[in-house]
Amino acid sequence: MLRSKIGGIGYYVPEKVVTNHDLMKVMDTSDEWIQERTGIVERRYAKKHEETTATMGVEAAKIAIERAGITAKDVDMIIFATLSPDYYFPGSGVLLQRMLGMNGIGALDIRNQCSGFVYGLSIADQFVKTGMYKNVLLVGSEFHSCGLDFTTRGRNVSVIFGDGAGAVVIQPTDKENQGILSTHLHADGDGAEKLAYFNPGCHGGTFLDKEKFGYPDQEYGGIFLTDKMIEDEDIYPYMEGQAVFKFAVTKFPEVIMEALETNGYTKEDIDMLIPHQANLRISQFVQHRLKLPDNKVWNNIQKYGNTTAASIPIALCEAWEAGAVKEGDLVCLAAFGSGFTWASALLRW
Ligand SMILES: CC(C)(COP(=O)(O)OP(=O)(O)OC[C@H]1O[C@@H](n2cnc3c(N)ncnc32)[C@H](O)[C@@H]1OP(=O)(O)O)[C@@H](O)C(=O)NCCC(=O)NCCS
Repeated sequence: MLRSKIGGIGYYVPEKVVTNHDLMKVMDTSDEWIQERTGIVERRYAKKHEETTATMGVEAAKIAIERAGITAKDVDMIIFATLSPDYYFPGSGVLLQRMLGMNGIGALDIRNQCSGFVYGLSIADQFVKTGMYKNVLLVGSEFHSCGLDFTTRGRNVSVIFGDGAGAVVIQPTDKENQGILSTHLHADGDGAEKLAYFNPGCHGGTFLDKEKFGYPDQEYGGIFLTDKMIEDEDIYPYMEGQAVFKFAVTKFPEVIMEALETNGYTKEDIDMLIPHQANLRISQFVQHRLKLPDNKVWNNIQKYGNTTAASIPIALCEAWEAGAVKEGDLVCLAAFGSGFTWASALLRW
């Protein structure tokens, strides 16, 4: 069987820098609180009415496509990972396809939140190594700032997230010791309501504590998105931060070790760990647990916040551009997020 590799990689972050001090102007928070709990100093916000999740994805994709030595016309399939799509439906994949003039090829939209990129990589890997496709474009892009609660009520979530996009082209390789060695995908729906964006949705409160969330009993319609939900501002992401934190610090090391053990490696063999940039404290906990030196873990959450499906490709691209990921390096990607979902991939660069 063939093996697949990342043949090209690119990222795009919007120009607008939003510092913790900027957020202090609109909500009751502090630079000290944000830095101490999350490590974040600033993040980027996309230009409303000009940029979208799809347009940012296009910018990242153009770079990845060029670096893969192909043109947009050579792409065989698009995989688009996001939790902040341009439309509820259709997915952002077809918008990217239209903008890049790649009509006719398949566009698969996936919804695995912070694990979206690694889930997407696993899908792309299957299509390439079976020989079905030669160039799969995988994009992770997020426009969080258009859907956050910027009042004090939403501060535990809003300060964490930023906008941006990353993209890779997955291609076959005939080199013996190169490419994606394995991917590992996991989920546990028991955590579904711990980190979620409930509305619009058809759940009508079914799985929620109705006292806590105040879902009205309605006989007809209106459960997808009601006026009351908008009045109550029940239209923002919900997160139980400490539950998320606890699950993440268990699952990250587990899934990294799973990838290493599957391939007969130990943690000492890792040249670079690219963790999903959820929170600097989570990454530091994982680094400490695995006893990895600073130069083997890439962190950029300080500059971009948590960009969900875009965070791993942005970090991987930055690390590669900085020369910190080189040919022959053993690179581990690890993600954790809403669902709960978690995943890892081991690559020989
Ligand atoms: C969100 C997170 C930073 C909050 O840190 P925490 O130590 O758990 O803080 P708590 O939620 O217990 O809140 C502590 C206090 O800070 C306050 N607070 C919350 N957000 C705040 C903010 N942005 N600024 C200032 N104060 C804030 C709370 O209201 C609370 O105040 P109280 O003690 O008066 O009630 C932390 O739980 C976390 O990082 N969780 C994981 C989140 C994550 O990674 N999500 C993405 C997964 S992909």
